[in-house]
Amino acid sequence: MSAQGNWPQFCQKLNEHQLLEMMEQIEETGFYIHKNLLDNDHVKGWQQHVNTLNSMDQFKSAKIGKKEFESTETQIRSDQIYWLHEFTGKTRVLGDWLQNLSDELKTHFRLPIDFIESHFSIYPEGARYQKHIDNASGQSHRLFTFIFYLNPDWQPGHGGELVLYSPENPERIICQIEPKGGTFVLFRSDLFYHEVLLTRVPRYTYTGWLRRNARV
Ligand code: OGA
Ligand code: NI
Repeated sequence: MSAQGNWPQFCQKLNEHQLLEMMEQIEETGFYIHKNLLDNDHVKGWQQHVNTLNSMDQFKSAKIGKKEFESTETQIRSDQIYWLHEFTGKTRVLGDWLQNLSDELKTHFRLPIDFIESHFSIYPEGARYQKHIDNASGQSHRLFTFIFYLNPDWQPGHGGELVLYSPENPERIICQIEPKGGTFVLFRSDLFYHEVLLTRVPRYTYTGWLRRNARV
């Protein structure tokens, strides 16, 4: 168990300059990457939290598709996830940080974001997530996808990179993001096909969506 009274704050607040940069990036390209939003101690703290939940058997195989068609298709997606249904206790800081982010995006882009959906995820060694889009043209209510990487010891060769494809040409790769601890990624859920390459070491993330409230 991690130290109870000494839980680290989630991560630094984005300052005015960083927020401006984020808005400009999103406007121009539809995505934003920050390579060291969390310092290594925070990354380790959250990874430990995920390991604790996992050791209590709280993780389930991720499912694909809408409720009535859900399947655990391990060829497509082989991570294990833990949904955060509320932000209480240790995870309150996650909710507060994301609420700030969501308010900024909402105001800047005049978007009806009013719900945060998120989960911790563990990709065991050998796991991947094939090319997909989180919100295929208005079929879901997801507006933005965010990912925090919680791998303090990630090295080149460990795999598990996130590949983003061009919105104009979904066959063309526009960037490959290393899942290094502390990296944060935000992108428009309706624009980008993306893929998680096979990981050779267990891979940890905190992933979610800023969305309209209604469920599909
Ligand atoms: C997802 C996803 C990317 C990642 O959960 O939909 O694409 O890098 N995750 O974990
Ligand atoms: Ni995705």
